[in-house]
Amino acid sequence: MTIFDLAIRAAREAGAILQDYAARGFQISSKGRIDLVTEADLASEAHITALIREHFPTHSILAEEAGGERAAHSSGEYTWIIDPLDGTTNFSHGFPCYAVSIGVEQGGRPEVGVIYDPTRDELFAAERGRGAWCNERPLRVSRIDQLERALVVSGFPYDVRERMEAYLPAWRAFLSHTQGVRRLGSASLDMACVASGRMDGFWEQGLHPWDTAAGWILIEEAGGTVTRMDGTPYDNFSGSLLCSNGAIHEEMLAVLRTLP
Ligand code: IPD
Ligand code: CA
Ligand code: CA
Repeated sequence: MTIFDLAIRAAREAGAILQDYAARGFQISSKGRIDLVTEADLASEAHITALIREHFPTHSILAEEAGGERAAHSSGEYTWIIDPLDGTTNFSHGFPCYAVSIGVEQGGRPEVGVIYDPTRDELFAAERGRGAWCNERPLRVSRIDQLERALVVSGFPYDVRERMEAYLPAWRAFLSHTQGVRRLGSASLDMACVASGRMDGFWEQGLHPWDTAAGWILIEEAGGTVTRMDGTPYDNFSGSLLCSNGAIHEEMLAVLRTLP
C-alpha cells in the first residue's frame, strides 16, 4: 500500500469512527477554557496511528492529542501530521462541520494531504506533482481576481479571549474589502474550501501543524498560493497562514500590511 492510499484509508476509517460517536453520543472533556477534546478525537487518532505503525513503522508521527510540537523532520524520513478531528467544538455541539486531516511531509515539504469530511462524504486528497481531487473530481481554485468580489474565511485560536485585540483588526479590514467573511470552525475544511473554489481566501493566526499540513499541499496542487500572513514562505510550524486562489493573494497581503 502506498502512503497516499494509506492516508485515504485512514481518513475514511477515522471519519467512520467520528460518525459512529456522533450517532451514539460521547464524553467531552476540557483541555482549556474553550478548548475541548472528546472520546471521538482520541479514538480517531488511535486508529490512524495504529494503521501508520502497522504499514510504515519507520515513519514519524506528529498527532494533536499525543502532543509534541516538533517532529524530527530534518531526518529525511516521512512524518505523518494528524488532526484526528478538526472542528471539535462543532462536533461537540452537533454542528456538522468537521473533518479528519492527515498530511505527510518529508524534510519539511508536504508530499500528501488528505482531508475527509464524513458529514458530506467528501474526500479531498492531493499528492505532490499529481494534482488534487475531491471524490475523484479534479480540484481547481476559483478565478475571482478582485478582493471586492471575494468570499473569504477565517478562524480564531483558543486564546481568542485573551488576545481578541490582536485578531479583530484583520476581520474588520477584510469585512470592508470583500463580499463576505465566514467562520466555519474547521481550519482544514477552510483550506479544502479554498482548494475547491468554494472560498477565495483564508487567513488565521495561531494555527498548529495538524490544522494545515494536509490543506497546504491540497491548495498548492489545486493551483492556489500558501504563505505566512506577511507573505514569506509557509511551513507547518509558521502559526500564521494566508492562503488563496493566488489571484487575490497580493490584495490580501496589502490589506494585512495596513493593520496596526
Ligand atoms: C480548530 C479549528 C478551528 C480553528 C482553530 C483550530 P480543533 O481545531 O480548526 O477552525 O479556528 O484554530 O484549533 O481544535 O477543532 O482541532
Ligand atoms: Ca485542528
Ligand atoms: Ca483536533
